[in-house]
Amino acid sequence: MKFFLDSALVDEIAHGLEMWNLDGVTTNPRHVQVSGKPFLTAIREIAGLFQGTDKPISVEVNPHHSDHRDMVTEAVKLAAISPNFVIKLPATEAGFKAVAVLKEQGIRSNLTLAFSAGQALQAMRMGADFVSPFIGWKESNGEETRGLIEDIVAIRDNYCFATEIIVAAVRNGRQVVDAAVAGADIVTAGFDVYRDLFDHPYTHVGLARFAAFWDQTPYE
Ligand code: E4P
Repeated sequence: MKFFLDSALVDEIAHGLEMWNLDGVTTNPRHVQVSGKPFLTAIREIAGLFQGTDKPISVEVNPHHSDHRDMVTEAVKLAAISPNFVIKLPATEAGFKAVAVLKEQGIRSNLTLAFSAGQALQAMRMGADFVSPFIGWKESNGEETRGLIEDIVAIRDNYCFATEIIVAAVRNGRQVVDAAVAGADIVTAGFDVYRDLFDHPYTHVGLARFAAFWDQTPYE
């Protein structure tokens, strides 16, 4: 399973690349706003961290676009900035159409804001390279998501679609494990989710316990 960092903060991304062997990054308008930088500055700086790699960076078109032609125009401009950029498009009729148009031009896409298996299926049919079901938002509303991911994985496998499934808006380590068990290709989560996932309090308890024994034992 691949781990993407859901962030536009250069320090977080650099740490994740160096220490966690991150496989990619996803950004969205909230992440870029949090970075405090202009949109193009923020995504150019992130691209700089990935130079010489083939790891994908998802960057989102202006969410005000409702016409697929406007989405495509901006996507072409963004894709020209970095070969790592994958264009995030919304799971709307216009977004699906933009996916297909960009596919013909060799520009990769990530269908975002997907909340149902039907939307994911349409993303796959239209040729999306990635589809991102947002499980955290659904679970906030009391909806189950394990079955959703299982359905999307089964649909992808039934028809051998090439689309990679990114389980997105992941809030905790249990959701990462559930996504892996369900066979999703990728999770994208925030810095703190990974930091907690890779750690366990008992590891530190055990280290302290073993250190005490170590200190009571001659080395030679
Ligand atoms: C995924 O690509 C999205 O950026 C992300 O998971 C959205 O969720 P959030 O902003 O609520 O964390």
